[in-house]
Amino acid sequence: MIDHRRLRVALLGAGSVGAQVANLLLTQASELAERAGADLELAGIAVRDVDAPRDIDLPRDLLTTDAESLIVGADIVIELMGGIEPARTHILAALNSGADVVTGNKALLATHGAEIFDAADQLGASVSYEAAVAAAIPIIRPLKDSLAGDRIRRIFGIVNGSTNFILDKMDREGLSAAEAQRIATELGYLEADPTLDLEGYDAAQKAAILASLAFHTHVSLDDVHREGIENITADMIDGARRAGFTIKLLAVCERLDEDGAEAISVRVYPALISRDHPLASVHGGNNAVFVEAQAAGDLMFYGAGAGGLQTASAVLGDVVSAARRHIAGGVGVGESPRQSLPTASIGRIHTRYQVTLEVADEPGVLARIAGIVSEGGVSVATVEQSPSSDAQGRAHIVIGTHRAREQALSDTVARLAASDVVERVVSVLRVEGE
Ligand code: HSE
Repeated sequence: MIDHRRLRVALLGAGSVGAQVANLLLTQASELAERAGADLELAGIAVRDVDAPRDIDLPRDLLTTDAESLIVGADIVIELMGGIEPARTHILAALNSGADVVTGNKALLATHGAEIFDAADQLGASVSYEAAVAAAIPIIRPLKDSLAGDRIRRIFGIVNGSTNFILDKMDREGLSAAEAQRIATELGYLEADPTLDLEGYDAAQKAAILASLAFHTHVSLDDVHREGIENITADMIDGARRAGFTIKLLAVCERLDEDGAEAISVRVYPALISRDHPLASVHGGNNAVFVEAQAAGDLMFYGAGAGGLQTASAVLGDVVSAARRHIAGGVGVGESPRQSLPTASIGRIHTRYQVTLEVADEPGVLARIAGIVSEGGVSVATVEQSPSSDAQGRAHIVIGTHRAREQALSDTVARLAASDVVERVVSVLRVEGE
């Protein structure tokens, strides 16, 4: 039964997600009112320029450039402007004025999350952010609520749709990185600043948010080891395919236990995944996240990881839940108590590696390389040699290792690079999902 209360909703931002949220709030008002328990009145939409072209026509009288005034008196503030400022100031103002906040702002939460969540806790308000990670896929609420009684060991998956689209195009259609990136740009898949996607910042922001929830520890963007896809070439994708792998940009959040000392590792990098692994079948702009929990076992979350309408679904779910809380009263459910687990350096992780070397195709070279690898404490699992297509008299040696400590592997690669038998280290890729 509808309480017939009216909650004022202020929307900040009318980009591809904001415009869809506004449209759904207006066109599905009665259905949303039933579910929320109150009418959700869209009081206004703050934008930078009321005359800017938009994906969807929005009622002109709702548009304003005065976000500060719109926030005053709002019960729920939806922040979809992105970026740090003025989003941060608006969210803090909204919390201070008694509103619940819904945001999709991964960059802000990954850098100023502690400040925002502390403010919400002190004010008894809620901050919801399902849209910040993997768009339509419910992953924040499962980690925060459904798995709150479990112990999460590891999260890993694909959390950036545009780089997955690019790598997938290269893998399935044999395109160069530049060609695949051009198509992604034309389709509007990349962020306004494409380096956020290509250099792994977007995925790292999402990894910081997921790790904070999974390990009840504040993890910020600075704690995330980040490598992007900018050095991945068509040759590397081709070599991976021939070896039974595909290359995916992965986010990995892992609990480490070394001699009883607990730490966490949060990292983003392109890695080899077996073509038999379910992540290899995540095509186009889709995302997939695996959660490995002690009691629940392995869980997989899959779906659209980007898109205005898809992301709007996550935003509206948070709006309905914020409305219910606002009506019920009481304080918002804050973030879980912090455990303050330390972040381990990348050198402490263990995984498998594939190292490709260009060498002189001469007797004794393989034995020298095997010696250097073994002295480094790295155990070789496979070795393959093929003639180099670039230079006569040279060969490519691809070494697959057993699980090794990253520090041992990188020291070994440095010794290989410095040795007189190795012409060039062609690539070093981690192998995940095994
Ligand atoms: N740039 C992001 C991506 C958009 O490609 O996944 C969704 O967060």
